[in-house]
Amino acid sequence: MTGVSLQLQPNPEGLAQAASDFISEQVRTKPDLSILVATGHTPMPTYAELARRVEAGEVDFSRVTAVQLDEYLGIDDDDPRSLWGWMRRSFVQPLGITRTVRLKNPHQFEAAIRNLGGLDLAILGLGPNGHLGFNEPPSAMDAPTRTLELTPASLESNRAYWGELTVPAGAITAGMNLILAARQTLLLVSGVRKRGILHATLEGPETPEVPASFLRRTALTVIADGAAWT
Ligand code: PGA
Repeated sequence: MTGVSLQLQPNPEGLAQAASDFISEQVRTKPDLSILVATGHTPMPTYAELARRVEAGEVDFSRVTAVQLDEYLGIDDDDPRSLWGWMRRSFVQPLGITRTVRLKNPHQFEAAIRNLGGLDLAILGLGPNGHLGFNEPPSAMDAPTRTLELTPASLESNRAYWGELTVPAGAITAGMNLILAARQTLLLVSGVRKRGILHATLEGPETPEVPASFLRRTALTVIADGAAWT
C-alpha cells in the first residue's frame, strides 16, 4: 500500500471531523482548489461539518471550484433525484462556492478539467461493488468520462436514496482517467456493509473488477470508521 494513508475513526462523527480537517487543510494550502465532489450518504456529515466551519469563519471555500462526479441520465434539472441538485444543496451552496463544473457532456467535461489544470482533490465514496462515481466494474484505469448502464448492484444500492422513486437506468460518470490523475484522493468509508469491499480495495488485487483498487496508485487518504475496517 505505498502512498496510502489509512485513518481509522471510532464512528461516523469522528470520520466527519477527520475528513473536514483534511479537506480544510487542503483549501487553506491552495484556496483555489478544484475538488471532485461525491454525493451519497457517507460524505454528508462531512459536508455538514464543513458548512459549520465556513459559517464560523474557520475556512473559506469562496475560490474553490466544485466539480460534479456523476449523474443519472434522462431526468430533469428539478427532479429530486438529480445528483447535481444534491451536490448543490449539500456542498456548493452551504460552503459558499461560486465556481462549478457540471457533468453533462463527456467531451466538454474533460476539456473543462484540462482548462482547470486537472483536479486537485477527489472526494469519493466507495460503492458496495467497488465503483467510483459510476465507474462500474469492470472499469479500466484509463476508462474515460462516459455514459453507461448502471449495474444491478448499483441500481439496488441507489434505491436507498430515493424512497418510492425508481433509480434511472442510465448514468454519466467522470472517468477513471480523471479520478486517478487527481493530485490527492480522499476515500470515505462508513459502516459494516462496506467492510468486505474496503478490504478488497486496499488489500486485494488491483483489478478492473474493483475499480477503487486502482486508487492505491494515487496519493490516497482513506478515512474509515471502525465498522468498515475491523
Ligand atoms: P454511499 O454511496 O456513500 O451512499 O454508501 C457510495 C457509492 O455508492 O459510491
